[in-house]
Amino acid sequence: MKTASTIKEVRALVKEWKKEGFTIGLVPTMGFLHEGHASLIKRAHEECDRVVVSDFVNPTQFGPNEDLEAYPRDFDRDCRLCKENGADLVFHPSPDEMYHDQHTYMNIDTLSETLCGVTRPIHFRGVCTVVSKLFNIVTPDKAYFGEKDAQQLAIIRKMVIDMNFDIEIIGCPIVREADGLAKSSRNTYLTPEERKAALCLSQAVSKGKSTICKNCSSSSVINEMKSIIDAEPLAKIDYVSVVDANNMQPVEKVSNDVLVAMAVYIGKTRLIDNFSFHVEK
Ligand code: PAJ
Repeated sequence: MKTASTIKEVRALVKEWKKEGFTIGLVPTMGFLHEGHASLIKRAHEECDRVVVSDFVNPTQFGPNEDLEAYPRDFDRDCRLCKENGADLVFHPSPDEMYHDQHTYMNIDTLSETLCGVTRPIHFRGVCTVVSKLFNIVTPDKAYFGEKDAQQLAIIRKMVIDMNFDIEIIGCPIVREADGLAKSSRNTYLTPEERKAALCLSQAVSKGKSTICKNCSSSSVINEMKSIIDAEPLAKIDYVSVVDANNMQPVEKVSNDVLVAMAVYIGKTRLIDNFSFHVEK
């Protein structure tokens, strides 16, 4: 497995691979990798001849009062996990390599204005900017994203259609800890007491899954989920929402495919979780 910190090195290697006729899979990450990331790398390794993992804490997707500085980093450990799971190249650029004198950003209408976009208004602009740059640098056949960040996945699927990227987007299921908590690099922020409290997210997901049905009201699902989170003293709800799976807009009734998503503060740490519900026609 190789590592590269410059765009030039990545382009040279990709050019060689394409000459050989190899297909390329891209797994964009912000590092501090865990089994959720590993599942994406494994899947890419199964489906593509060569796998590129990007490992870059992207400054443009963090708001002014967010955790850019504190975001955990461990490049050596990341490289070991990438190698074990079949990556061929880890791209680890500096912020200056990615953003030297950048004046161009991606702007996403509607889909970025609900759910996480309310508390994090510039987040998806930064995500789409860095992901489109990675798409142009790596020119992959397929790119892999987790359903853990379901709004991000929906936005990237739309961006690929709207901007005519010739890339197949593969969504991968949420990987959880044994007790149900969705794996996240941010789980490292939790104290032991908060770690226990954080279980209310996955418990609310289970409750939502058992409550939801075709044509039920969204508020009935939301209220059941909220009652679980409200019972946890260390938890503070940012949002619990039922949105149309395609446009991320809130719905009153579950008559089409929906995403049921939430963000909850456990102490100072903001965690997300979700599930999708398919409506049989
Ligand atoms: P990051 O949070 O590092 O996540 C990288 C990828 O791993 C994302 O597609 C995310 O959905 C997926 N992932 C994270 N936790 C997961 C879990 N428990 N199960 C399955 N997949 C999981 O998402 C980002 O980075 C950034 O926004 C990025 C797309 C890299 C752009 O900077």
